[in-house]
Amino acid sequence: MKMVLASGNQGKLTELKTMLAHLNIEVLSLADYPEMPETVEDGHSFESNAQKKAREAAEYTGLLALADDSGLEVDFLNGQPGVHSARFAGEPKDDAANNEKLLQLLKGLPWEKRTARFRCVIAICTPAGEMYTADGSCAGFILEQSRGDGGFGYDPLFYVPQYDKTFAELTMEEKNKISHRGIALKKAVQILERIKEGLIR
Ligand code: IMP
Repeated sequence: MKMVLASGNQGKLTELKTMLAHLNIEVLSLADYPEMPETVEDGHSFESNAQKKAREAAEYTGLLALADDSGLEVDFLNGQPGVHSARFAGEPKDDAANNEKLLQLLKGLPWEKRTARFRCVIAICTPAGEMYTADGSCAGFILEQSRGDGGFGYDPLFYVPQYDKTFAELTMEEKNKISHRGIALKKAVQILERIKEGLIR
């Protein structure tokens, strides 16, 4: 069985291949289809963006397709930056500028109001057009200053009480265990197992 990851991101491809190693699924990515038009991510939710990416990749390639969309929701900002997480501070995409903007918006805000969560939605679209979704979230607090130098994006500001660390201070293994993407991916693997066994199509 062949599947395409609706992303050109090498890190995500490696992670997916590792998670699917037991399933004997050949995983391609959009790097294998450079001529495919880029999906416009204009949805108002992680679900709609992930589903649009998966559907377009399945239609273009004729293969089973998997796509993810993720971001940070800050309660005090009514769920922002949400689907705008990557470009919160505008173009071009800049993690440091995004983090600085977030710090400014939360300046002086007491600890108990600095709650936030990362969310991830994974959409799987079959060649027949059937859509399945899996989601994951991870709750935490936005610190008043960065801590740690691992990870990417908002990781240095995202504190998880369970580990008394930010995402940027966790090992990859620790992060995968509790992260929004790790949780959604585990559920997605279960869906793929059922597709592979022919239990759903
Ligand atoms: P994407 O959907 O994986 O491209 O992520 C969109 C944006 O959400 C990223 O550019 C980051 O700003 C933010 N984001 C998503 N997941 C994470 C994470 O695990 N750590 C830090 N930032 C994240």
